[in-house]
Amino acid sequence: MKKNTPRSPRPQLLPRSVSIIGTGSYVPDRVVTNAEFEARKELETTDEWIRTRTGIRERRFAGEKEFTSDMAAEAARRAMAQAGVKPEEIDLIIVATITPDMLFPSTACLVQHKIGAKRAACFDLEAACSGFLYALEVGQQFVAAHTYNTVLVIGAEKLSSVIDMQDRNTCVLFGDGAGAAILRSRGGESHGILTTCMGANGAHGDLLKMPGGGSLHPATHKSVDARLHFLQMAGKEVFKQAVTAMNSAATEALTRCQLTGPDIALVIPHQANLRIIDALAKRIEVPSDRIYVNLDRYGNTSAASVPIALDEAARSGRIKSGDLVLMVAFGAGFTWASCVIQW
Ligand code: ACO
Repeated sequence: MKKNTPRSPRPQLLPRSVSIIGTGSYVPDRVVTNAEFEARKELETTDEWIRTRTGIRERRFAGEKEFTSDMAAEAARRAMAQAGVKPEEIDLIIVATITPDMLFPSTACLVQHKIGAKRAACFDLEAACSGFLYALEVGQQFVAAHTYNTVLVIGAEKLSSVIDMQDRNTCVLFGDGAGAAILRSRGGESHGILTTCMGANGAHGDLLKMPGGGSLHPATHKSVDARLHFLQMAGKEVFKQAVTAMNSAATEALTRCQLTGPDIALVIPHQANLRIIDALAKRIEVPSDRIYVNLDRYGNTSAASVPIALDEAARSGRIKSGDLVLMVAFGAGFTWASCVIQW
């Protein structure tokens, strides 16, 4: 009789540390200044109102023939070039977006084709403005667990395609762009992602949404006439929630790493409103010269905001090797997320 030979136990692999080995970003050429909105008399807005209530001076809008996947692909190419990673080395692509080219196929699949990352598995992730940090956490789990070696994480948006140009409450706030990061383990513990946190509260979903185009309100003449295919936001309520959630997400990440605000070399917050960013800086006790702000140039680019800022900060030398970097975001859902990295 054949004896059952005991199976050798699966080797237990310890979680690996995960680093961002390259970043890239892309914003469209077309600059839309506050003056353009002011010139549209029916909006009854001014450059002064927009600047003082939000901190935004201008934003970028993609061209008619430029889509979320195009911007995502360009940011990815720049991140790959910086990291020295070839497209065929990428195992997984995650695209965080609320403005996919279409409902399906996923924008990640479109990006895979555009950059030639033929081996990569692909999916989109939707967590609005927290999307990039959600995707970073998900992506790093795959690397830490040895499932994949090289993960491309992208936040990309063409918000100009979903903003209601007749609604002054929202149309002045948003812009288009994309940012990307490549995750890998460098080995060793001295660099990399120290912690990631994610959270959500679906009870407030109604305060910030785009109701049309899904199974609830599929596209009909009626849904288009009712402007359901545009982003809607109850700004004041969202503002209050954003201040609280950004602060608690940042504090949670710091506490987990046994750090405090003053230990952080650079905070990269989601770029929605300068007053939200100032409130965060005050609460976590980080001076304003250690808070990265590019909101004045790009407005709120939702899932793209944190990775564009990260790329700019890294390339301009605002982050140096060994620096502790805190990233924190808040968005529709509501969702929030934070991350501490030793660069
Ligand atoms: N120009 C002139 N007046 C305006 C404009 C404008 N563009 N927009 C609004 N107003 C008016 C309002 O109509 C209101 O007038 P009223 O008092 O006569 O009714 C007045 O200004 C004040 O409006 P508020 O909404 O109270 O203005 P507030 O100071 O709160 O600023 C803003 C509005 C900028 C939207 C702010 O609330 C905000 O930034 N909210 C949070 C945005 C955010 O964090 N989003 C998160 C993520 S986004 C995502 O996930 C996709």
